[in-house]
Amino acid sequence: MAEYPTALIRQHLLFDGTPVRIRPIRADDAAMEQDFVRHLSADARYARFMGTLKELPAAKLRYLTDIDYEHHLALIALVEIEGVETEIGVARYVVNPDDTSCEFAVVIDDAWQGSGVAGILMRSLIAAARARGLKTMEGFVLANNHRMLKFARQLGFRREAATDDPGTIHVVRTL
Ligand SMILES: CC(C)(COP(=O)(O)OP(=O)(O)OC[C@H]1O[C@@H](n2cnc3c(N)ncnc32)[C@H](O)[C@@H]1OP(=O)(O)O)[C@@H](O)C(=O)NCCC(=O)NCCS
Repeated sequence: MAEYPTALIRQHLLFDGTPVRIRPIRADDAAMEQDFVRHLSADARYARFMGTLKELPAAKLRYLTDIDYEHHLALIALVEIEGVETEIGVARYVVNPDDTSCEFAVVIDDAWQGSGVAGILMRSLIAAARARGLKTMEGFVLANNHRMLKFARQLGFRREAATDDPGTIHVVRTL
């Protein structure tokens, strides 16, 4: 188990000037992560988890929060809302068995989509993957998720040939 990567803690500003803190997730963020997922719209949850779950089952919640930072890195975005530090987004990669590529996933609280936080999280994640020595990052996006497909294109991802599943699109970026 790698040490908590404090070097990845950063402060940024959203488009409207709101300060946002980016930091790697910790096991003790599990309750906050569950609240974040419960608070997402059904559409956002479906786009992220490709299923109709309302909250995370215990094992999945542990998998997403109790990570080794070496094969699995998740960065969360936090803003202060009425004095409470609140998660508004999360982006993660999981290293593939080849140890040179990884798969990303990202989701932003509905009220904070379009705020700039998605770009901050994904650019931070890409930089961290590159610093880890990974060579490519890939993702699987629902074919009707035009917002994510546009966002991925802006981040430099290209579409790969169709996967086995016609409902998803495979996007890949060199790091
Ligand atoms: C897909 C997703 C991550 C994209 O996040 P996002 O918040 O839309 O992306 P951004 O924060 O970069 O915002 C982009 C918007 O900000 C706008 N923007 C860009 N620069 C700007 C600036 N300087 N000032 C103001 N607005 C700006 C863009 O025009 C864009 O708006 P548009 O979509 O109307 O063109 C988000 O919609 C989401 O969480 N969806 C649900 C889960 C999901 O689909 N996950 C992907 C699974 S693989």
